Amino acid sequence: MPQTVLVTGGAGFIGSHTCVDLLHSGHEVVVLDDHSNSAPEALERIAKIAGRPIAAAHVADVRDRRALDAVFTSHPIDAVIHFAAKKAVGESVQIPLAYYDINVGGTTALVAAMHDHGVHRLVFSSSCSIYGDATTVPLTEESPAAPKNPYAMSKWTCEQILADLCRHVPELRVLALRYFNPAGAHPSGLLGEDPHGVPNNIMPFLTQIAVGRRDELSVFGDDYPTADGTGVRDYLHVVDVAEGHRAALDHIDDGPGMRTFNLGTGRGASVLELVRTFEEVSGRSIPYHVTARRPGDVAELVADPAKAAAAWGWSARRDLAAMCRDAWNFQQQNPSGYAP
Ligand code: UD1
Repeated sequence: MPQTVLVTGGAGFIGSHTCVDLLHSGHEVVVLDDHSNSAPEALERIAKIAGRPIAAAHVADVRDRRALDAVFTSHPIDAVIHFAAKKAVGESVQIPLAYYDINVGGTTALVAAMHDHGVHRLVFSSSCSIYGDATTVPLTEESPAAPKNPYAMSKWTCEQILADLCRHVPELRVLALRYFNPAGAHPSGLLGEDPHGVPNNIMPFLTQIAVGRRDELSVFGDDYPTADGTGVRDYLHVVDVAEGHRAALDHIDDGPGMRTFNLGTGRGASVLELVRTFEEVSGRSIPYHVTARRPGDVAELVADPAKAAAAWGWSARRDLAAMCRDAWNFQQQNPSGYAP
């Protein structure tokens, strides 16, 4: 059934790819985004790829109750996908209060507005970082939460608030999706990751080196208890992540209350393996040097993605080489990102 979906953070990296997938699937899309880490241009690109535009774009902070009320009053919203949040681990250690204010305060403002306007379906962007320093991988949804930095703690706090709300508000349905490491770009080269300032995440850092905007990669530690000593992550193509959101939306009425799902591939790659794969795919060499560990980082995070596969038939279909190829394609076609 086509629905009208509010996508907060819809101009951002994962949000924009999800908007494309929703439009392709026949849904109407309303975006709320303050463009603090995104560009309005992404919304034009979404329309170009999907062949039709989103229904409306509201430029506002997700904590702004009046703006939220205006959105819910002017559109017949059936469900909400909530991406709008801050997401840099290192930064969260520097400015933890901003992470609690925006990530937790944004979520409670949004859910309060949903409640006031009779909207009860929410897909929430959570993170594998809530598992902290995993003692066993792969991680299932039953693995204990042990957030190691304010970013992760903010996501875990939101999950707990949402789970508790679901106990008290029987009509509320929440699917929390714990992403592992989204990377890559739309294969068209029109949409991709374009962080403001110095990239925090590794893939945009690699593409910016390859295109000549940065000199070399700092590899944050080579003394982790992993095969080559560098951090291991479960990188996941952003189009697979987008498809995961559509699958979640299709199944949100399967049951009441709050349910959590990992979105990952089940396969880990080290920093050095990622660098090698990127070099092979792009034909560019990536100079790097090893520096100290980054505060808040953990050794290894790899998903057990079986639950989403069993519940929704969703699994990641694109590999690390595809992530590198598509990220590089986006960067080559947009050397300065979305900036004109
Ligand atoms: C973190 C979160 C993840 C979240 C993501 C959102 C943790 C453990 N993970 O991912 O849940 O979805 O942010 O942005 O909190 N690296 C370098 N040099 C760099 C940048 C990164 O060596 O310049 C290394 C990191 O140490 C890590 C890997 O590359 O081992 C990936 O880092 P990054 O892309 O920043 O993602 P996470 O920190 O894993």
